[in-house]
This record gives sequence, structure tokens and C-alpha cells, in this order.
Amino acid sequence: MASCERSPRSGAAPRPLRSAQAADVASASSFRAFEMLHLHLDLRAEFGPPGPGPGSRSLSGTAVLELRCLVPEDAAELRLDSHPCLEVTAASLRREQPGSEEPSTEPVPFHTRPFSHYGQALCVVFPQPWRAGERFQVQLTYRVGEGPGVCWLAPEQTAGKKKPFVYTQGQAVLNRAFFPCFDTPAVKYKYSALIEVPDGFTAVMSANTWEKRGPNKFFFQMGHPIPSYLIALAIGDLVSAEVGPRSRVWAEPCLIEAAKEEYNGVIEEFLATGEKLFGPYVWGRYDVLFMPPSFPFGGMENPCLTFVTPCLLAGDRSLADVIIHEISHSWFGNLVTNANWGEFWLNEGFTMYAQRRISTLLFGPAYTCLEAATGRALLRQHMDVTGEDHPLNKLRVKIEPGVDPDDTYNETPYEKGFCFVSYLAHLVGDQDQFDNFLKAYVDEFKFQSILADDFLEFYLEYFPELKKRKVDSIPGFEFDRWLNAPGWPPYLPDLSPGDLLMKPAEELAQLWVTEELDMEAIRAVALSNWKTYQLVYFLDKILQKSPLPPGNVKKLGETYPKISDARNAELRLRWGQIVLKNDHQEDFRKVKEFLQSQGKQKYTLPLYHAMMNGSEAARALAKETFASTASQLHSNVVNYVRQIVEPKSS
Ligand code: BES
Ligand code: ZN
Repeated sequence: MASCERSPRSGAAPRPLRSAQAADVASASSFRAFEMLHLHLDLRAEFGPPGPGPGSRSLSGTAVLELRCLVPEDAAELRLDSHPCLEVTAASLRREQPGSEEPSTEPVPFHTRPFSHYGQALCVVFPQPWRAGERFQVQLTYRVGEGPGVCWLAPEQTAGKKKPFVYTQGQAVLNRAFFPCFDTPAVKYKYSALIEVPDGFTAVMSANTWEKRGPNKFFFQMGHPIPSYLIALAIGDLVSAEVGPRSRVWAEPCLIEAAKEEYNGVIEEFLATGEKLFGPYVWGRYDVLFMPPSFPFGGMENPCLTFVTPCLLAGDRSLADVIIHEISHSWFGNLVTNANWGEFWLNEGFTMYAQRRISTLLFGPAYTCLEAATGRALLRQHMDVTGEDHPLNKLRVKIEPGVDPDDTYNETPYEKGFCFVSYLAHLVGDQDQFDNFLKAYVDEFKFQSILADDFLEFYLEYFPELKKRKVDSIPGFEFDRWLNAPGWPPYLPDLSPGDLLMKPAEELAQLWVTEELDMEAIRAVALSNWKTYQLVYFLDKILQKSPLPPGNVKKLGETYPKISDARNAELRLRWGQIVLKNDHQEDFRKVKEFLQSQGKQKYTLPLYHAMMNGSEAARALAKETFASTASQLHSNVVNYVRQIVEPKSS
């Protein structure tokens, strides 16, 4: 398929094609006119000094795009997504010659056109328009140094601090700054890559086969069609260790033992539970790469090779929900993909639902509801800050021209999406039936990119009884309202199975709110047996009730060094938020140390918001911390922090 418009289901009558929003791609006219069959990257990595000059750090080589013409009217020119940081120096065309064994190769003219602040169009001009069905290859010679798609890290920015590191982060629209492509999730294709690295480095990619070719070359192949945003590369001082029959962890040598310890034996359980619920795991291997600390996400579901923050190395497996989340994307997101970033909830809302199904089977409903309550609290916080009616608080978001989809990122697609999927399960009324439906949904749309309408139509066809009952238009719960109205979800799944764990945390939080602390009652609570997420829940409650009466936060910190001196990132985040909301300046340095130790966006931005909403001292801390960390952070995160600490004067 060349675009999001999926083919009619076998047996079903063809329907009018639905067109996707595609305001975020310069290639919109071409990705409908040409089918992308294959991409091959042949790149050499050089770790020189930063900056432009000769010998500076860069990837250079060729991208070969294999294409087929679909719509001859638009086939005189190929428009690709690119970025000013890609220096394209040559374009050539290869095609079969009728009556000749040898394909012909000829240079073709190309030029760039401005598109938006996050990319530009690269236009390749053909000698004559293509006819429908014709296949050809476009070879682009290029180099990419500094830019938002390829993240170069100096040795000091790695865990081992000995060798430099480079990685790519494609989602949502950054891979156009890695290679020229149709940078839309509507388009899927297979890829291969040959990566040459300097002595002593290892390359890994999101591919299902790889082999070492000679001492310095790595060859990768992805045999299933995937969207551009899932192509990912990392090169560094990397070693691996087996943790399951189809899984290994990759990390810098100094982290490999910890990585192995954290996940040995458990990943297979997560995968097998996913398969039981959602159908075969098609990607072959499931490996995990522990990234340097500045990696901006908890996890990124690059197929076959999830990239994760080293913060997951908590020593007690307490943050495994992130791995389960990324594994869940193997079905929701990587097999069935949102056709455009306005439908991001199809990736993340389903994935949250799948993650919590796996978690329920493995850890039970109480723990899973507790974790879901933490998610709900994040949604509450987000909507309180933005106002419920904010247009981003819709499941289906309109991405206007010029808007970077990453700038629309928030909790809504995750947690409101989770509520919608839970609501649809609630309408079905039987968990087994709904699980089977999800399996059928994945099978139906695998390797395709879809819109919410495709999903909902399938849902109503699968459950004809519900269709007859017109469940799509129950007043207050209309599917249209779910998708297109901003605001708090009209239905919330019942999380009361978590009460067992949540109630004690709520009661304890209540004890900390009074002016006169009842230390006896407080000491009677055996917090030392609590799971991390129970502590997180407790801290969220404390944060909601903050500022506490003077002195209470200091006392709280002294009473629970397990919290105030935690190494666990989820606890450090909450402690930092509490410290700031209570202006507990004694612990300000812990906020700074935490922000210096890692660069995850979801930890970094809330802490800067809290600092800027705090006292003068807190605002000074924000400026000082940003000055000392900006050079370490991902470029998107730098921009977002800058918007917080340097608000534009109106
Ligand atoms: N795919 C996302 C990360 C992402 C989203 C990258 C948007 C770029 C743009 C990933 O699956 C994710 O949601 N990660 C979460 C995990 C959490 C919900 C368990 C994270 O990083 O916090
Ligand atoms: Zn996700």
C-alpha cells in the first residue's frame, strides 16, 4: 500500500477511499503517487569533532529508494521529506532497460523547497513522467552531521565516558533529518542498511536480521514493512547479553551486568503473554538497548530493538511496565499503525490497554489498577493545566500546517485513549470476547496504517449486536464525541481492585496534611513493604495536597529516606515535584542532580514547570540547571525547556 488508504477487506465491498491528514509531510503529493517498495541505506559513521568543517562527526553515503509509479498524473517529480541538515550532493536514477540486462543509471536534477521549521522538501525531477506500474530506483548521495534526527554524544555524555555514541530517534517526524523519505506513518516499506563504523564500535538497528561484514561493517535487514519513524540506528561501545530465548539486552559495557540482572528471564514472559492475548509476535527477536542517560523517552518501540532510558535500571524490576508498554507496541503501533499523527491515540491508547492487559495477567488486577490510577492522575494534571476544553484534549487532533506533531504530545492519547478502549470493552461486557476481538483487529489490519474510522467500523461489524443497539450514538458516549470533543473521558474504567493498595497510601497521605503530625499513627504504617508504584501513588497524593503545613515536608523526607534519597527515577521525579511545590530549598540540589543525571522529557518538563511556578529561588534553580544541562539534552527537549524557562515576553 502506498498510502493510508487501505484495501477493502477480502469479501467486503470496496468503499470510497478515505484520505488522511498529512499536513506534516512535504511529500504529501508523492506518497500517494508512488509506492515505496524498499529503502537501502549505505552509510559510514565518522566520530570527528562537532560542527561543520571537514572530518566532523557525520553519517555519509547513499540512500536508495525503490519505487513504483501509481498515479502517472503526478509522476514527473518525486517529492521527499528531508531537512536542511541533510546535504544531498547527487541524485541518480536506475531503471530496467527494455531488451537489456543492465539497468541504466543517469544523474537527475534535484532541488529543495522550504516546508516548515522541522523539514524541507527534496524534489527529484524525472526526464519524463512515469507510467503506472513502472518501477525504478532513486539513489541519493548525502551526508548528515548535526541536526535533530541524528543525535551525537561526546564520551562524557555516555555511561562509560570513554567513547562517543550516536543514535537516531525517528518518532514523530525526525527521520527526515536522518534520510530522505516519505516521513509519514501512512507509508510502510521494508529496508536494509550497511553501516560502516570506526574500530571498536558496534552498530545496532531496528531490523530482524543482522550480520557483521568484516571488522567494521554491519548489515541489517527488516523483512516486514514498517513506517519511516520506526527505522532506528545506534552506534557506540555496545555489548550484549542474552536474557531469553529471543531476547538480549544491549548496553555499554559498564551497564551490561545491571541490564542483564534487571531483565533476565522476564522478557520472555511478557512476550508470551502478549502473544497469548494479541496473536503471534511477528518481529523475530525482541532486544532492548539501554541508551545513554540523555535519551528523551522512557522507551521507544523500535521494532526488534526497543530503545530505553537507563533509568529503568532500578535494581528491582519495578519499572518493567515501560518494557511491557514497548512490547505491546509490537501489535499496536508497529503492526497496526496510526495513518497520521492526529490519530496517535490508535498507537498509544491501544498500547496502554494492551500493557494493562498483560500486567493484569502477570501481576494481577490490584497492581495494574494502581498503575492505571497513576496514569489517570497524570491525565488529570494535564487537563487541569491546559483546561479541559483545550483542542489537544481530543482523541483525534487536527495537526495544522506548520505544526510539529511532537508539539502536540500529551497524556490524552495515552490515558483518554485507554479509557475509550476500556469503554468499548465495557460495551462488549466480556473480557475474553474483547481479547479475541483485539486479536482479530490486529490480524485484520496488520502491516497497514489506519484511521479511527477503520477501527470503529471493524468493531461494529465484529459485534453486530452492538451495531444493532446503535452503541455508537448513546447520548453522552457517542463515538464522535469520544473522538472529537475535548475534555475528561465520559467513561472511566473501574479501578477499585486497586483500592487494597491505594487506600493505605491515601490514608497515610492524609496523616501528613495536618499541622500537628500524629507521628505514632504515621510510624505504624509499614511503608517499607510497599511497591514502588504504591509509593508513587502516595507521593502523587502528597503533591496534590501540597503545599503542606510548614515543616511537614522536611519531616517527611527525614522519616522516609527511602523516598527522599531514592535512586528510582519515578520516586526522584515525585520527590522533586514535592520539594518544589513546598519550596523546600534544602533539597533543591536533588532536583538539579536528578536533571543532570538523565534527560527524559516526561521527567524534565514537569520539573521545569514546577521550578518556574515556584519561588524566586526555584526560578533561579531552573535557569542554573538549564545552563548546565542544555548541551546534554535532546534538541526537542532543549526547545521545550527553553519555552518554559524563557517565556516570550508579550
Ligand atoms: N512511542 C512512545 C515514545 C514517543 C512518543 C516518542 C511520541 C516520540 C514521540 C513510547 O512508546 C512511549 O509511549 N513511551 C513512554 C512509556 C510509558 C507510557 C510507559 C515513555 O517514554 O514515557
Ligand atoms: Zn507508547
